[in-house]
Amino acid sequence: MSSVDPRELRNAFGEFTTGVTLVTTVGADGKAIGMTANSFSSVSLEPPMILWCIDKGSDRLSTFEESEHFAINVLAANHQDLSNRFAKKGEPFMDGVAHEIWETGCPVIADAVAIFDCDVAARHDAGDHIIYVGLVRRFGRSDNPEGPLVFHKGGYKSVS
Ligand SMILES: Cc1cc2nc3c(=O)[nH]c(=O)nc-3n(C[C@H](O)[C@H](O)[C@H](O)COP(=O)(O)O)c2cc1C
Repeated sequence: MSSVDPRELRNAFGEFTTGVTLVTTVGADGKAIGMTANSFSSVSLEPPMILWCIDKGSDRLSTFEESEHFAINVLAANHQDLSNRFAKKGEPFMDGVAHEIWETGCPVIADAVAIFDCDVAARHDAGDHIIYVGLVRRFGRSDNPEGPLVFHKGGYKSVS
């Protein structure tokens, strides 16, 4: 048993300012889903690798487990509605969201500030989360003038 207080730990984690991503994939039924995540990190340049973490309690985990691909969309400041929508339980589907399809078949948001279209390179068990490591098949950046969506202490922040 850990003596760490989870609420205090969450608050301490929240001191680390992050961007916000929409992670997408396509289930075995062919339906695309999205999930808001700020656990994204760059990992390796050669080969090109990134990671993100998913809660084992997520209703969306089974869909990510079915797929060998995902796409990371680094959201812009004008994507707050998207972030909120895909952080809600029971609303995982990408219906009605304008998107493109790149190499892996996962939806990508054209005006995201950055996109990483990935094959699943590894899944690592890590406490109450699973670390997904992605091998980047294709990436891109947009010149969205809004700049990035920023998350700090449990809320959205502006960098401008
Ligand atoms: C800014 C933000 C960042 C989040 N980051 C993560 C994350 O990195 N990993 C994760 O599993 N859930 C994360 N969540 C929570 C999921 O978005 C949320 O649990 C999920 O989309 C809805 O629940 P479900 O997965 O059980 O359907 C985040 C939520 C917000 C608002």
